[in-house]
Amino acid sequence: MSAGSNPPKSVAEFIATESSKSLLRFITCGSVDDGKSTLIGRLLYDARLIHEDQLKALSEDSKNSNASNGEIDFSLLLDGLSAEREQGITIDVAYRYFSTGGRKFIVADTPGHEQYTRNMVTAASSADLAILLVDARKGILSQTRRHAYLLSVMAIKHIVLVINKIDLEEYSEKVFEAIDRDFREFAEPLGFTTLKSIPTSALKGDNVTETSTSMEWYKGPALLPYLEEIEITQTGFDSLRFPVQRVNRAGSDFRGFSGTVRGGSISTGDEIMVTSSLKKSRVAKIVTMDGNLEKAVTGDAVTLILEDQIDISRGDMLASPGDLPHSSDQFQAKLVWMHQEALLIGRSYQLKIGTQVCNVQITDIRHVVNVNTLEHLAARVVEINEIASCNFSTSKPIFFDAYSDNRATGSFILIDRLTNTTVGAGMIDFSLRRADNLSWQSFDTDASARASMKGQVPKILWFVGLSASGKSTIVDIIDRKLIARGVHTYILDGDNVRHGLNRDLGFTDADRVENIRRVAEVARLMADAGLVVLASFISPFTRERKLAREIAGDFDFHEVFVDTPLEICEARDPKGLYAKARNGDLANFTGISSPFEAPDAPDLCLPGADRSAEELADMVIEKFKL
Ligand code: ADX
Repeated sequence: MSAGSNPPKSVAEFIATESSKSLLRFITCGSVDDGKSTLIGRLLYDARLIHEDQLKALSEDSKNSNASNGEIDFSLLLDGLSAEREQGITIDVAYRYFSTGGRKFIVADTPGHEQYTRNMVTAASSADLAILLVDARKGILSQTRRHAYLLSVMAIKHIVLVINKIDLEEYSEKVFEAIDRDFREFAEPLGFTTLKSIPTSALKGDNVTETSTSMEWYKGPALLPYLEEIEITQTGFDSLRFPVQRVNRAGSDFRGFSGTVRGGSISTGDEIMVTSSLKKSRVAKIVTMDGNLEKAVTGDAVTLILEDQIDISRGDMLASPGDLPHSSDQFQAKLVWMHQEALLIGRSYQLKIGTQVCNVQITDIRHVVNVNTLEHLAARVVEINEIASCNFSTSKPIFFDAYSDNRATGSFILIDRLTNTTVGAGMIDFSLRRADNLSWQSFDTDASARASMKGQVPKILWFVGLSASGKSTIVDIIDRKLIARGVHTYILDGDNVRHGLNRDLGFTDADRVENIRRVAEVARLMADAGLVVLASFISPFTRERKLAREIAGDFDFHEVFVDTPLEICEARDPKGLYAKARNGDLANFTGISSPFEAPDAPDLCLPGADRSAEELADMVIEKFKL
């Protein structure tokens, strides 16, 4: 956006302009009052990158602004600049763009302190460099360390530490050096390629676009010249990665595969391989809105037409044969958790990596990082804004690269399957080899053979309800009646399973998730063996009940809610546990100090307080024709 010319209408249009100039994408981060907006506003103003009309509006607005004391309030400028909000995992990142004589810039501006990780992850995922602001009066804060660590996780290699408001410290070299030293010491293990500290006063304009005369001791460049000069070496990932976004059928003989090139380049005539089927073909045409291309490079959105009719669908990845991405259903990754509700081991989330979507579970939290000391801490859950290293297990193999090799094909987001909100972002470190060496062994005798020997249809009946709601009593009666009729059954019961298989689990949310996951797997094995399984667990969380149903796969699965009000369960209190919980002698007790999410739409709801156990058992037998 040079003053006077027509500004481009979007980031994409901006990138396409002045192609001879190199592009630097950067992000700014700092604490609330470090003067981030003032710095960017000043940068644009001093570099004469502001339109006349914007200037006029600015001085008007500044008169009404409390902060300015009659001077121009540069922080107001950002609101008036063209910005583009990108739909992604956040709506709060604004991309602003400008160019100087030497370079084009896109700056991702991330307001909001509450959700800062969410915004920063989005902004940083496409940036080459980060400006980290600190207030010279305050020095390095916990927030600064947090940001720096997150930047390193996001593989930002170039950092400019802007030590701002240095005028309020009488332009002191000592103050500058102490902060610079502090930061370097902290950042040493983070592996940044370049780290430059610049003393500035954004308000006064010192060292923003021009070298300040108030700090003779500072011999380096001002911020803008530094940004114009710095050399960013790209990682040089040149393997073709083309995740298929859409299969395009326009007319009977046109079948194109649309998507964006996420690695390397592709030319007509090149051989490609479909990563899921290992089928090969060659590129016949590369089609775009503006005509056909001979060659498409990383970042280009194109439609490929192949020479052969081969099966390809959304979520497939095209690559060069002999240079395929990793394929695995288990991998290790860094995870940034962004949701109020903690991440739990064993809970199932939706994973989106490029155009691929599947379900995923965290099988292990290896550690959570203390961002102030960079220490690794053991953890059972990951809380909001924490960064952890975890092992993941997906419901089907996915195709990916290490994040350090390719940010686009190595990063993913996690989505809560109940609410559809984005809850985490991940950066893959590597595939876990143990998954590569396991395959599914099939045997000749299958579930139906085993079931027909017993003359029955295997089923899983999953009884949900509070402690003392009557689950075990009802299940006991059903079991007795079925066995009397020669049905092969088995009871899986919360109390009993916790004596053996699940003796390592307690009653935290995370342990309950794992309890249900394991038991659901066992129920499935038993159904596979041909049995009618009666599972009786509080199973307080909707998400894990859903998981149990999924694990059951093709087997009949019925959820039975034993709906007995809490007051009645508490009055019954056969094991004295409610009394203990009320006295504070038993922590995390369901209904008292741990939540119970009642099923919305169970297959059968039993009025636990209104009928005898015998009657309730008969209702189940009748409903499911046992
Ligand atoms: S679940 O929540 O993970 O599904 P599960 O059904 O296995 O629980 O176990 C519940 C049984 O454990 C209860 O019937 C009760 O006898 C016992 N128990 C002991 N402590 C607790 C607790 N804090 N909360 C609930 N049940 C508990």
